[in-house]
Amino acid sequence: MSFRGHTVEPSAGSTATLEDARSHLFNDRTVERYRESLRAGVETVAAKVSTTTRPFTGTTPDRLAPEISGIDLDRPLGDLAEALAELEDVYLRDAVYFHHPRYLAHLNCPVVIPALLGEAVLTAVNSSLDTWDQSAGGTLIERRLIDWTAERIGLGPDADGVFTSGGTQSNFQALLLAREEACTALAAAAGTPPAKHELLPKLRIIASEASHFSVKKSAELLGLGMDAVISVETDRGRRMKPEALARELARCTAEGLTVMAVVATAGTTDFGSIDPLPEIAGLCAAAGVWMHVDAAYGCGLLVSPTRRHLLDGIERADSVTVDYHKSFFQPVSSSAVLVRDRAALRHATYYADYLNPARTAERRIPNQVDKSIQTTRRFDALKLWLTLRTMGAEAVGLLFDEVVDRAAAAWEILTEDPRFEVVTKSQLSTVVFRWLPPAGPSRDLADEANLYAREALAASGEAVVAGTKVDGRHHLKFTLLNPETTLDDIAHVLDLLAEHAGRYVNDRTAVAPELCPTAV
Ligand SMILES: Cc1ncc(COP(=O)(O)O)c(C=O)c1O
Repeated sequence: MSFRGHTVEPSAGSTATLEDARSHLFNDRTVERYRESLRAGVETVAAKVSTTTRPFTGTTPDRLAPEISGIDLDRPLGDLAEALAELEDVYLRDAVYFHHPRYLAHLNCPVVIPALLGEAVLTAVNSSLDTWDQSAGGTLIERRLIDWTAERIGLGPDADGVFTSGGTQSNFQALLLAREEACTALAAAAGTPPAKHELLPKLRIIASEASHFSVKKSAELLGLGMDAVISVETDRGRRMKPEALARELARCTAEGLTVMAVVATAGTTDFGSIDPLPEIAGLCAAAGVWMHVDAAYGCGLLVSPTRRHLLDGIERADSVTVDYHKSFFQPVSSSAVLVRDRAALRHATYYADYLNPARTAERRIPNQVDKSIQTTRRFDALKLWLTLRTMGAEAVGLLFDEVVDRAAAAWEILTEDPRFEVVTKSQLSTVVFRWLPPAGPSRDLADEANLYAREALAASGEAVVAGTKVDGRHHLKFTLLNPETTLDDIAHVLDLLAEHAGRYVNDRTAVAPELCPTAV
């Protein structure tokens, strides 16, 4: 039998024995194998991390894909040491290392060791956080962390929430709850309650033009379509303009549309800007509209010893997204959605006879599945628990403060560097900028040169930076989440970027002299 070039042996020819297969199961008889296997894995990773000098090797899909597709998954190596050696070639050698101080690209943080321990523990015990009878204490630990986070936000005594796989899912669930609340209110207000499909076309979500794309995706998944998201203008600091929000709220009312939610972003992905939460909360309260705060990035401020005030107003939200795997230095995945009124979570509840029959709720047996859009669910909360119990919340906040300070210093450096143009100063830890070709016709090459510089830098493996478009122009972006990144690292990366971009412009002007400043 052949599939995609591999010959698949019929199982009759297999050399596997049941006894051997059973020796791989983790149980009381195999703890020694478990110890040895994890020790070997930990040693492999530790050796790798201690000798990694660049965040990336610069490999390409073309180079790496044959290594992976060439592996015959129907012929096991049968030996952990060999599997780990192979892993070096297919994964560890070319992985992108977020712990490296010159990884400056996306919202990926280096991770704290207590959380890594949590990850190892939670996968070994393998609790599933849907029902009490699959988790017991895990359910209560998650609930404590939700309560702790809700308290930090200031959501009040009726708050609740649940851990999710990430900000995208948290935003989706928050907007699902908002949609259901809006439909319930519309149905109650109508003499004859309309069918849901009649209501959906009238629903709108308002978010700033700098909000995360998961808001639009959620609108699509919720049956509203992406066009149901109204993007409102931002100011020079890339923060939602309250007067523009007020205008859109009034326009929707005048046109007979229902705004089911306003999404305020506390930490936009590109600019690290925080929408004016108190003003938005005031407008939402006056209009009776659900306020969701996407604090996927900015949630680290909840534990900041010096900057908590930047989130003032978040306590008035109806729902909040927090991504511990962005600014709490937690491994992927670790996120939560929180709501002011736990009753709203009923929209995610379904009583299944085999799992969480209504009688378990009547007996007040704690079940997280009643609040979640997932069923089987990882015990991600354990990582945060061990982090708080080992190093404490303030230590996490100090780490986040450090990267915010570093971004401010990087912004200063860029404003004084004539090779670059820098966009707005972030309230968090991003820096958006672009290299500027010398004045003259080669200025037209700015977009291409910045795109080229980013790719050439990644290909060299020296550093990884992100890119984005600002007002239609290609820019470069640092997302600083690593307190180990120094200003020297930043200055070095800027030199490398300028070098790559300058070489691109020189090469292009050599073949097209009309682009050369001296040819004018
Ligand atoms: C503001 C914001 N919200 C939501 C998300 C989505 O989070 P996740 O990638 O965890 O799904 C991101 C991701 O960068 C983000 O920056």
